[in-house]
Amino acid sequence: MRAILFNITKVFAKEFATMSAYAPFSKTRLLATLAVVAGMFFWALPAAAETIAVIGTGNVGGALGPQFAKLGHTVIYGSREPQRADVQALVAHTGHNASAMLSADAARNADVVVIAVKWDDAEVAVKSLGDLSGKIILDPTNAVRLDAQGIRHHAVETSAGQMIQGWAPGAKVVKAFNTLGAGTMTDPASAGGPMTIPIVGDDAQAKAFVAGLARGMGFDAVDMGGIEFAHALEQMLIVRGNAGVLGTPFNYYFRPVP
Ligand SMILES: NC(=O)c1ccc[n+]([C@@H]2O[C@H](COP(=O)([O-])OP(=O)(O)OC[C@H]3O[C@@H](n4cnc5c(N)ncnc54)[C@H](OP(=O)(O)O)[C@@H]3O)[C@@H](O)[C@H]2O)c1
Repeated sequence: MRAILFNITKVFAKEFATMSAYAPFSKTRLLATLAVVAGMFFWALPAAAETIAVIGTGNVGGALGPQFAKLGHTVIYGSREPQRADVQALVAHTGHNASAMLSADAARNADVVVIAVKWDDAEVAVKSLGDLSGKIILDPTNAVRLDAQGIRHHAVETSAGQMIQGWAPGAKVVKAFNTLGAGTMTDPASAGGPMTIPIVGDDAQAKAFVAGLARGMGFDAVDMGGIEFAHALEQMLIVRGNAGVLGTPFNYYFRPVP
């Protein structure tokens, strides 16, 4: 928080110095500066308690759900079979008033919707959730194709993040948590050191909420721009996966420039 306040002061100081030198008053520049400052302010806030629908009860849903519940959020798993024994076991393991219901019901009752389903199922899953306008969609998906040598390739023209935004145009899609393994989401300390969660999306407050989730889990969070950069995060997963196949597995950590 201290670093954020320091940066905000720096942005203001620089802007006012430039304004007085070249233009006594520029509405556009002042508004632009305020937008940057507001974004930095939201970014620094801890994530307020919300109801989070986690659609999918597999590796990623089963890793993020319990973490979000530990942070004080109410988790509702969205499942095709909410009464299934493994889904009920996940609800019990999650605790903190977690529950499971059909995916559309979970999404309707939530402020934040996590799309924790395989890419091939994502379009059907997102489109079956009803109107998601105004909600935050947290997108950890990766559209990956494996070639004959087992090397990963990005499997869509644009990006999974942009396609999800297209399927739910009124929602605030935030791409995050796609660049690490589910095991590390379950146990961040197992990474053996700091890790960075890169985040993209068009809504500053939505990104700040997701950054708060990442920080709450013990990760660093870095804003890497609008949803049009989702392809960059998805390529990060591709090169990380291929480095693992080629014998040098790693996790992402961005050392800040001093
Ligand atoms: N695994 C990782 O380490 C990892 C890491 C980062 C990102 N990701 C990405 O996260 C997403 C989820 O990966 P995952 O490994 O958690 O997948 P997974 O273990 O296969 O779980 C996917 C879940 O999606 C649900 N689902 C909803 N609609 C479905 C349908 N039509 N057919 C099949 N399942 C459906 C299922 O839950 P119900 O049976 O309860 O409906 C299923 O458990 C993927 O896009 C993946 O690329 C994975």
